[in-house]
Amino acid sequence: MCGIVGYTGAQNAAPVLLEGLKKLEYRGYDSAGIAVMDQDRIEVSKVRGRIAALCEKTRDGASVPGCTGIGHTRWATHGAPTEENAHPHLSNDGRIAVVHNGIIENYIALREELLREGYHFLSETDTEVIVHLLEYYYRGNVRDALIKTANRLQGSYALGVICADEPGKVYAVREASPLILGIGLGEHFFASDVTALVSHTRSVIYLEDGEFAELSADSVRVFDCSGREIAKKTTRILWDVQAAEKGGYEHFMLKEIMEQPGAVKATIAPRIRDGKVLFAELEGLVPHLPSIRKIVITACGSAYYAGCAGKYALERLCRVPVGVELASELRYSDPLIDSGTLVIAISQSGETADTIAALRECRERGAATLAVVNVVGSSVASLADYTVYTWAGPEIAVATTKGYTTQVTVLYLLALFFAEHLYPDTFGLGRMAETVQTLPRRIQEAIDMNASIPALAAKYHRSPALFFIGRNTDYAAALEGALKMKEISYLHAEAYAAGELKHGTIALIGEHQPVIALCCNPAVMEKSLSNIVEVKSRGAEVLALTFRNNQKILSVADDLLFIPEVEALFSAAVEIVPLQLLAYHVARENGCDIDKPKNLAKSVTVE
Ligand code: AGP
Repeated sequence: MCGIVGYTGAQNAAPVLLEGLKKLEYRGYDSAGIAVMDQDRIEVSKVRGRIAALCEKTRDGASVPGCTGIGHTRWATHGAPTEENAHPHLSNDGRIAVVHNGIIENYIALREELLREGYHFLSETDTEVIVHLLEYYYRGNVRDALIKTANRLQGSYALGVICADEPGKVYAVREASPLILGIGLGEHFFASDVTALVSHTRSVIYLEDGEFAELSADSVRVFDCSGREIAKKTTRILWDVQAAEKGGYEHFMLKEIMEQPGAVKATIAPRIRDGKVLFAELEGLVPHLPSIRKIVITACGSAYYAGCAGKYALERLCRVPVGVELASELRYSDPLIDSGTLVIAISQSGETADTIAALRECRERGAATLAVVNVVGSSVASLADYTVYTWAGPEIAVATTKGYTTQVTVLYLLALFFAEHLYPDTFGLGRMAETVQTLPRRIQEAIDMNASIPALAAKYHRSPALFFIGRNTDYAAALEGALKMKEISYLHAEAYAAGELKHGTIALIGEHQPVIALCCNPAVMEKSLSNIVEVKSRGAEVLALTFRNNQKILSVADDLLFIPEVEALFSAAVEIVPLQLLAYHVARENGCDIDKPKNLAKSVTVE
């Protein structure tokens, strides 16, 4: 779980690498390093800690001259976050340097073999076997050594390699980890994510698994795993450069919360025409819809909670049972999945290891697979039979916001799309599509109508625990609301189905215990009201999330958060917004590192 960058051209490489690494810091931030080649010498500089420390150590790159280099920002998996374990790693002769994102599964066996051959290891990382293997196979041709080395590696890897015998050249290798090439004028780049490239170029090449690239200042050559040169398509990045920056907000998370009306609009707009939902990318799936006996949604974290929210619309409209399974559990559960199952894998990054593994498992069992993904060309997207992109744009903050709302929105659209094909005569589908089209406006209203959130955060930020309760669709939104709170504010936050309180949890409710009660589903409103009364009679302080005109709730709650009225089946995408803002302001009150919460990383590429 790391970010890698590479550069070759006429500029000093180090400042370019450092700038790229800052953009990738969300992928891991416990240590960092760069290796720069000057003529035929490689100089490595590494630090424990963040890129800022590396900038300081290298005087913003000035102390490491040279026009070709590679860089790395790390989130430790094998070995503690120390300078020794930080990348780049050097070969024993100091002539080859490697950066790596991913996991080498067979590194122990390779390490033993290399030790027997006389190689010395300086780190505890799995990565170091790669650079020693390269030295072992190197006979004057890096390309050949790369092919031989790649043949020995099991696992996932995106690699950046430089060799002192080939001044001006950078190699990039992809196997099950993202890697993108940036095409400039007289300069070339690679990076784990386009956000590290867009300030230099908008022309990119997405490497596929098993491919590697040889970059020099004036050429880009891509090869398959047998060394055969292949032609690749150049793609133009249309994002605004600003989209990958903070745009004036204090944190990426706040910026991304505010971007949600636009992001959800981008998700919906190309997919609804004249009251009908259209997915050109799913045409091949349509003839198989009648034979689907169940739908299984699989994902991790917030993406899993998006599945919990979308399940209601899918089941209600498609009349097919929908199971929502944690990807990390599904793959070990001998799941009852066969060719009559449609598996929907949801992932913002498209690189979550558990989701990838669950998807593979389901494919092997014969299921049709559909990926709901934000990052174009990611592993989940390439694995599935069908891919629907959420079009949320780059999400930098570790805590997902627009990633979640666009995932939920895609599930609403899928529910309508499947229903249109399965039961074209169903009354009201067109009206529901219109309701979904209003979501961007309602999300904006939910942002605008909650000016009291900073004050509420100041009131509740010291609470040792927060309980989120709700029923049905409100419960689904509560799950994500509690996750947002705990991951960025470090408060203990738990979501409970409100009806479950009396089966045990209510024992934890005492004087001044804050309870955040979601009351936006009219079908269960009376029951939700009873649950509020239950906790209030035990001394709880209730912060209710509801509609402005919901007098019953207004009269019993201590504090209020509002959303505009939305049909319950589609309300989770709106309900979550005030809860994201509440979590944000509580975390801010607590002085937390909001965009990079402790112990977390944006893309969880380890199981
Ligand atoms: C969300 O705020 C989390 N940081 C995390 O739960 C995330 O949703 C999860 O790791 C799944 O990520 P993905 O959508 O990229 O697969």
